[in-house]
Amino acid sequence: MPKVRVGVAGYGVIGQRLAAGAARQEDMELVGVADVAPTLPVRALAERGMPYRLFSAAPGSEVALEAAGIPVSGSFDDLLGQVDIMLDAAPGGIGAKNKALYVEAGVKAVFQGGESGEVADVFFHGYANYDKGVGQNYLKLTSCNTTGLIRTVHWLDRAVGIEKVAITIIRRVADPGDTHRGLVDSLQLEAIPNHQAVDLMNIMPHIDATGLLVHTPITHGHIITIVATPKTKTNPAEVVAAFKEHPRIRIVRIADGFTTNTSLFNYARFLGHERGDMYEVGLFEETVGMSGDDVMFAINIPQESVVIPETLDGVRAAMRMQEDQEEAVALTNKYLGIG
Ligand SMILES: NC(=O)c1ccc[n+]([C@@H]2O[C@H](COP(=O)([O-])OP(=O)(O)OC[C@H]3O[C@@H](n4cnc5c(N)ncnc54)[C@H](O)[C@@H]3O)[C@@H](O)[C@H]2O)c1
Repeated sequence: MPKVRVGVAGYGVIGQRLAAGAARQEDMELVGVADVAPTLPVRALAERGMPYRLFSAAPGSEVALEAAGIPVSGSFDDLLGQVDIMLDAAPGGIGAKNKALYVEAGVKAVFQGGESGEVADVFFHGYANYDKGVGQNYLKLTSCNTTGLIRTVHWLDRAVGIEKVAITIIRRVADPGDTHRGLVDSLQLEAIPNHQAVDLMNIMPHIDATGLLVHTPITHGHIITIVATPKTKTNPAEVVAAFKEHPRIRIVRIADGFTTNTSLFNYARFLGHERGDMYEVGLFEETVGMSGDDVMFAINIPQESVVIPETLDGVRAAMRMQEDQEEAVALTNKYLGIG
């Protein structure tokens, strides 16, 4: 079977990680990445000797790229002419504009959470609704928090059946380097329900969800606390045992030193992971407990890298590389070195 040819639009926080993840999939070929400016990730790509070809994402943007000494391999159209599917990681709203070009070129695409829902045929999660993505042309991935949230709720639902969940998201307010967001020193609240709870119900309509979100002036990892009402009685040991079976959930212990939102990021660096990336959500074992019959637990969302596996699952679904969800996620996991 020929390799599926993949392109990436937007070589920023998510795009550079999608490119690295796609390049690791032995049944995919990363044809190249596209961006509009000599940003720091693009400059670093050039300094690394261009491990991936870079295409100019908008007419005229090659001028600034070449002026900065970045080799440009062609236009966006040139890239679209060589791929089967695009992973669009341009800033929110740009993907919707790019979609017209994908449609014209007959190329499929997976969009990220910052795009509006209308951009895609299916709102996608590699574990919770893989089947809905099979053979579709345009998928939109859940946001970073929603991706990790659904990983855990879906898995618990499979193990014990979940009726409803209530969540609290302590959200990192910006990525490292996002100076345009300003220096902040306050905790900003949003009205309930947060979009992640609404999105969870969109993908898993049988679960009633609500939640609140607090923007927090930190850059490394969100924390989500979840209170889930199971359909059958359960206990912390059963819940932890179920989570241990999920390759994309890493059980960590406060007693072992995983005490903060930065522990998982730091640990990824100690493991030698590129950029300090962690594909798994961290689940703090000592936070798993009961409130009456409800289960509660806290997870860490490595916002820069958590959506990479599920996006690659999206390629597998859209391109019908695997009809079977378990086979698909197992391959993504294998090539990313998860589990
Ligand atoms: N940052 C996160 O933590 C995170 C997590 C999950 C999902 N997302 C989603 O991923 C998407 C990308 O976010 P990001 O944080 O990587 O953004 P980013 O700003 O880090 O990167 C976007 C890149 O796209 C480039 N770009 C601008 N116009 C373009 C165009 N017309 N065509 C192609 N590229 C263009 C920019 O130069 C930049 O390099 C958004 O939908 C966002 O909501 C972000």
